[in-house]
Amino acid sequence: DLQGAIFDLDGVITDTAEFHYQAWCQLAQEEGLPFDRAMNESLRGVPRRDSLLKILGDRSASEDQLQAMMARKNEYYIRLLQQITPTDLLPGTLALLQEIRQAKVKVALGSASKNARTVLNKLGITHYFDVIADGYSVERSKPAPDLFLFAAQHLGIAPHQTVVFEDAKAGIQAALAAQMWTVGLGPQERVGAAHVVLPSLARATWGQIFRALGQKAT
Ligand code: BG6
Ligand code: MG
Repeated sequence: DLQGAIFDLDGVITDTAEFHYQAWCQLAQEEGLPFDRAMNESLRGVPRRDSLLKILGDRSASEDQLQAMMARKNEYYIRLLQQITPTDLLPGTLALLQEIRQAKVKVALGSASKNARTVLNKLGITHYFDVIADGYSVERSKPAPDLFLFAAQHLGIAPHQTVVFEDAKAGIQAALAAQMWTVGLGPQERVGAAHVVLPSLARATWGQIFRALGQKAT
């Protein structure tokens, strides 16, 4: 049975995509590079460095220039994060976290973001997490299974007793590669590979998710 739950952050617990968009937009504008919402959508779950390389396209840059641009984007992003409050929790998130903890299931964060702790603190939900795996935890990013395996290991729970909540294609791939159960949040074309697909966590209950995954197991 399920003993652990791992939540992605951006796009699952809160919607930071708009802040990432604004921060990348500012950098792209300053650098004279094209950037739009469609491109931002393709950066969902993609680490900072890979995101920058995508935006640069065939424009070449030295390692120092890359580092400086990443630092600048993050400065803009952190500035935007200051406005986050508990009201920015996506609908259903808090109720589900509470229900999961009541069921004595362990909870971890599994996010590629180096700003994950800041965001959890701003949302006021840090105390719900037994383990925080973030952009500092492992080398290889999603779709590699490393981050989720790290989280489960620190929870002390086997992968096949763990369920991952994800909104990104690479995140679902990572969880499946880790041999974990998956709940995909969003459209089929993005998270259709997950065991269970929901539009969002709004009105989602642990009991309902547990039963839906149980049906897949038989
Ligand atoms: C992911 C986001 O969670 O974290 C990506 O979906 C982001 O958009 C990545 O690029 C890295 O985040 P950060 O905060 O370390 O730049
Ligand atoms: Mg995400």
